[in-house]
Amino acid sequence: MTNNNLVELRSFFAGKKYYVRTYGCQLNENDSEKISGILDEQGMTNTDNINAASVIVFNTCTIRENANDKIFGNLGIVKGIKRKSPDVIVILCGCMMKEEHNVTKVKSKYKFVDLIFGPSDIYKLPALLFNRMNEGGLICGIGDEDLIIEDLPVTHKKKFRALSTIIYGCNNFCSYCIVPYVRGRERSRAPEDVLKELKMLGDQGFKEVMLLGQNVNSYGKDFDSYDFADLLSDASKIDAISRIRFMTSHPKDTDRKLLDVMANGGNIMPHLHLPMQSGSDRVLALMNRKYSAGQYLDIVEYARKVIPDISITTDIIVGFPGEKEEDFSETLSLMERIRFDNAFTFMFSPRKGTPAADMDDQIPDDVMRERFSRLVKLQNKCTLESGMKTLNTVQTVLVEGLSQNSDKVYAGRTPHNRLVNFTCDKAIEEGDIVDVDITSVKTFSLNGRFLSFNSGNGG
Ligand code: 5AD
Ligand code: SF4
Repeated sequence: MTNNNLVELRSFFAGKKYYVRTYGCQLNENDSEKISGILDEQGMTNTDNINAASVIVFNTCTIRENANDKIFGNLGIVKGIKRKSPDVIVILCGCMMKEEHNVTKVKSKYKFVDLIFGPSDIYKLPALLFNRMNEGGLICGIGDEDLIIEDLPVTHKKKFRALSTIIYGCNNFCSYCIVPYVRGRERSRAPEDVLKELKMLGDQGFKEVMLLGQNVNSYGKDFDSYDFADLLSDASKIDAISRIRFMTSHPKDTDRKLLDVMANGGNIMPHLHLPMQSGSDRVLALMNRKYSAGQYLDIVEYARKVIPDISITTDIIVGFPGEKEEDFSETLSLMERIRFDNAFTFMFSPRKGTPAADMDDQIPDDVMRERFSRLVKLQNKCTLESGMKTLNTVQTVLVEGLSQNSDKVYAGRTPHNRLVNFTCDKAIEEGDIVDVDITSVKTFSLNGRFLSFNSGNGG
């Protein structure tokens, strides 16, 4: 793009409003923040009212079929808007756009879409918008190259926490997962770029930073001798940041070095999200996870040895092809033994092009649902039990804002990432760190009352 083109682009879009709807994980949220950053740079402003927007962006997710169904369903609303206001620009981007069958569907059934691109193509957005200004028809920005683009503008959606993607892509090819196909190979950002960004975020007043990657433990595998534990250790020296979190860790690469860095405490929060997926060695092998249930348990035990109060959360898939009742009971018994503080549980969803979608012995829906409900019942018991440990204690809470249902109740998170709703008469703000007395415990949240402002590091 020439400077003249950029001036033309800005004068066309300045003052107009955009709406961004994000589906899926925090990596996608961070991508949407970059899209917002680029649109803000054109002089546009964000709106939560889709009917008021001149540019509508759907940043899509394709991890499970229900994500796709929801997105295609919601596109129906956009069709109505576009019929009334044909000048509105409709953008579809993100993971779904890297699957050919979805692009074909958009081209044949959703002809009102103006512009499509994938997760690695965000930097092209100004040029694509410029093309759209000058041409009709569908503009396609989907590329095959897996680049790292530094210094894109970012508009952080939340004031209390900034997201920072440290590694893009995934090389693991778990047999059920579409991510390696749509987000490409692993690329680690240079440590100096990450640390420069983190320092800047701290200076800008963000209390919490979350380091993101499909598998953060792969960070640095493309360097000679600097890994995720080194990055976390360097990041923890940035005093302006009160809380550092990261996700997601893969058990096959979660080593003692990383847990030892976490054990130093400081601003690294005592929470590890460690997807187990299954407790059966047979199913884990079919999933291509490259660890056994025993190895998983070893990591958990070491983590609890060096960080005794650590909170450990997980992801579990039920109904993976070939999962027998014996396999499922192994999952349940490992969960009984570990007692996760929280778990995200999913029913297997076949993704076109992944090995698991074509495996024999797909599990019938009713069997999957029945297993799922047993799993959720057990986990809810463990989640409540984990929350009960905080009853009548004082927890340090990073304030996320007013709770949804009340103007006197605030919501925030403890270091262990537990959600707290608490009453407070003082004027407090998103990003404040406060001490809260926990007065009662529910399965998915704690209730409490404000005690005082906390001047420490929030850990
Ligand atoms: N079906 C069900 N769950 C899946 N996940 C990833 N792919 C699938 C799939 N095809 C789950 C895994 C992963 C989480 C982000 O989503 O548990 O850890
Ligand atoms: Fe998917 Fe496995 Fe990569 Fe996670 S590690 S994104 S589950 S392939």
